[in-house]
Amino acid sequence: MSQEKYIDEKIQGNALLTIAKQENNKKLYIESYGCQMNVSDSEIVASILSDLGYNTTSHIEEADLVLVNTCSIREKAELTVRKRLEKFNAIKKINPTMKVGVLGCMAERLKTQFLEEEKIVDLVVGPDAYRDLPNLLEEISDGRTAINVLLSKEETYADVAPVRINSNGVSAFVSIMRGCDNMCTFCVVPFTRGRERSRDPQSIIDEIKTLQKNNYKEVTLLGQNVDSYLWYGGGLKKDFEKASTLAQTTALDFAQLLDLVAKEFPEIRLRFSTSNPQDMHLDVIHVMAKHRNICKSIHLPVQSGSTRVLELMNRKHTREEYITLIDNVRSIIPGCSISFDMIAGFCGEEEQDHQDTLSLMEYVKYDFGFMFEYSERPGTPAEKRMKDDVPPAVKKRRLSEIINLHQKHTLYRMQQYIGKTVEVLIEGDSKKSDKQWMGRTSQNSVAVFDKGDEKIGDFVNVLIENCTSATLIGKRI
Ligand code: SAH
Ligand code: F3S
Repeated sequence: MSQEKYIDEKIQGNALLTIAKQENNKKLYIESYGCQMNVSDSEIVASILSDLGYNTTSHIEEADLVLVNTCSIREKAELTVRKRLEKFNAIKKINPTMKVGVLGCMAERLKTQFLEEEKIVDLVVGPDAYRDLPNLLEEISDGRTAINVLLSKEETYADVAPVRINSNGVSAFVSIMRGCDNMCTFCVVPFTRGRERSRDPQSIIDEIKTLQKNNYKEVTLLGQNVDSYLWYGGGLKKDFEKASTLAQTTALDFAQLLDLVAKEFPEIRLRFSTSNPQDMHLDVIHVMAKHRNICKSIHLPVQSGSTRVLELMNRKHTREEYITLIDNVRSIIPGCSISFDMIAGFCGEEEQDHQDTLSLMEYVKYDFGFMFEYSERPGTPAEKRMKDDVPPAVKKRRLSEIINLHQKHTLYRMQQYIGKTVEVLIEGDSKKSDKQWMGRTSQNSVAVFDKGDEKIGDFVNVLIENCTSATLIGKRI
């Protein structure tokens, strides 16, 4: 999938949230850009605001407060938000009392610069400061601007019950950890989301219980680096060594959390995202194999197939170690789908490195993928210490070679399902026809089939008869 498609899909997927304040009839509207974590964070923000009596409306023109939850991962993601702000500017001409707030990674990265550069912005709030929203809203009510971009050592919003936004009523995100300590040299996330900290497992279980009560059937455990999850009573992951012996010996890691949740909710289908290969251990793969309700699908971003480039990226594994991990996944969980993220044209990438990327892809034949041109991000180690020296035309050519090869692999993987029966969780109408259902398999493939007497949220067996590179087509059996 190209970067453009990725962003488009996210925007459509995240769609629009609008909330209207019941008291005083005030209205709020949120858009989310970027990763799944932002979708989840917007649900936390919606919850904090609903406690103040806010409610939804779908008309931005009548909103008193417009919030945009932003992404900084690539320059293009930031430009998309800047363009949206221009649009908001036009709307403000019709609705001059409307307040505009910027949340998320761009807020954290640009801080007060946002207020200086974008005159329309009244409010800037970083990812760890959403609890302060009621105070900040108070501050801007008399025409001042307000900002809180403090990063936290503890904040996991564990006790905030998210208000589900644009939900299909079937699958939901549950955030389990925040921040990232990995410091991949290209990545802005450690700077915008701070250090790793994990959420109390009891609060995770409570949140899933509520989802189950409300008929949800699938949960994706979310974090920037889920395999690094470690609960030892709260606090930063990097302070684990300083914790008491008792806290250390009773700590819960990701494999244990996954096992616990899978056992507690045998009827809920579980997914998780995202894994950094260096932090994914065999015990997680064994837990996946053990539980029927954990989806047989792993997202294992690799970024490059060249050990030399991986080192420049500060990814702490080699090409060979990654291949061993893939081999282990395939032998322990036969039929598991594997997806990836890849960056074309990172600093210092030579033609041979690019060929190594293509040959790694040829080896794995990924089911799904997100592929990007390298985009230099201010403040990252790569921006400070390395040269963005692959010419744009070369980046583009390499990216298109990666995308073309992946297209072949994804079609090949989908074709393997033809003639097989797969279990599909129905999410809603298919995009093309309301006479067909759309759902996902355990491997995360989209499947469509003619409607019968089933309903949204049912698990059904579907015999696959045909496919495209994106969709399995079958009939219910
Ligand atoms: N662990 C995170 C990764 C976040 S970034 C997660 O939860 O998904 C998602 C992907 O964006 C990365 O895997 C990487 O492929 C891509 N990416 C990150 N920084 C980038 C940059 N500077 N240029 C291009 N792509 C980048
Ligand atoms: Fe970014 Fe690497 Fe963490 S890609 S989110 S620094 S694992």
